[in-house]
Amino acid sequence: MERILSKPEYEEMLAQSRDKRMEWWREARFGMFIHFGLYSVIQRHEWAMALENFPVEEYEKLADQFCPKEGAPREWARLAAEAGMKYMVMTTRHHEGFSLWDSKVNPYNSVNYGPHRDIVREFVDACREYGLRIGFYSSLMDWHHPDCGRSAYDIKARERFNNYIYELNRELLTQYGKIDILWYDVAAPMEHAEGWNSLERNQILRQIQPDIIINNRSLLDEDFETPEEHIRVAKDRDWEACMTFNGLSWGYIDSNQAAPYSYNAQRILRMLATVTAGGGNLLLNIGPTPDGSVPAEAIKPLKTVGCWLIANREAVYGKVDRCQSMWTNPLCTITRKGNVLYCWNWIWPNNGQLVLGGFFTRLKSARLLGVGQEIKFEQDKYRIILKNLPEKSPDQVAGVAVFALEFEESPRFAGASAYPALNKGRVY
Ligand code: GLC
Repeated sequence: MERILSKPEYEEMLAQSRDKRMEWWREARFGMFIHFGLYSVIQRHEWAMALENFPVEEYEKLADQFCPKEGAPREWARLAAEAGMKYMVMTTRHHEGFSLWDSKVNPYNSVNYGPHRDIVREFVDACREYGLRIGFYSSLMDWHHPDCGRSAYDIKARERFNNYIYELNRELLTQYGKIDILWYDVAAPMEHAEGWNSLERNQILRQIQPDIIINNRSLLDEDFETPEEHIRVAKDRDWEACMTFNGLSWGYIDSNQAAPYSYNAQRILRMLATVTAGGGNLLLNIGPTPDGSVPAEAIKPLKTVGCWLIANREAVYGKVDRCQSMWTNPLCTITRKGNVLYCWNWIWPNNGQLVLGGFFTRLKSARLLGVGQEIKFEQDKYRIILKNLPEKSPDQVAGVAVFALEFEESPRFAGASAYPALNKGRVY
């Protein structure tokens, strides 16, 4: 690299290539997050090392107990593909500092200890086999490295530590062919991008992988925002909500106890509808068991979602328009692609018709996704009435039917808040 660009120059360069680099990601909508590491062995959350104040030497002993079965990453990737997910992001090294690849700069890794295998390699191969895009989660904070803590105040330690972080990521981005996402996490102890050399490091890493997409957790905005454990639309930015499967832990915790807190298919579909409405993505986590199996409670819901997506894919994937706050009705969520609104029905109406109020645009056609059945409708002033509906939701998979409503032009609607005015005959 001739010279390191200034921050405005770098941001300008990224802005110019962003649409091209992010095209696949903006259409993918749904990905699988994998948290797997030594913490999976003890089954008490991926922060256990810090939360339980483990002495480092005691925690290190877990490395020899870490023994994922052969083919574990293939199981994750197969399930991700079956669930309709389009990409995966795996913790290559979490805060505990244990690398899941054959690292030359970090001998504390899965080739020297435990399984004596390169789990990152297996993960990459599995993603490719199932046609999934590949993301590497990479922690900045490192509880195992002696320089991490003191790099907050000791310049020499910081230099060594930043060099270490750079080398780890360089290894990851040079040894496995094309990588699609670099997913940083927890920039501590330094509080500013300058302290981490993020501007310099990310520029050099992008030279190795020119199409890569980087998240916003190295204290630079980079390509997308990462709301965690909640779904919030980022203004004028790409965003991806990352969610645990059980609201408790990213790393594996006892399946029997976690099951009652875990998402079912309908709640996953609710999240998917919310991200689709807001033009974002959902990165849904599973924490594999100590031997690398998919946690039992995740299998059925994910397969059900995948099955549902076969019939309803049109509503989810591809380029969508943001339509948050367009319409609120607890029985449905509305998402949008151009002149078509998709009405995801959660609670089937008990009167044989679905009435949508507050619309100003003429409806051209209404049909049910999957079966493709045309639905009879009437449009009266601001009301759309979908008529002659069956008694029960026609969706056999999850009870979530989606109506595709095609309008004659870009749909305008006001929703419930307009009711008092519309009812008096006033038009906005
Ligand atoms: C956090 C946590 C972490 C988890 C991550 C996922 O910041 O430190 O354990 O990996 O977010 O978003």
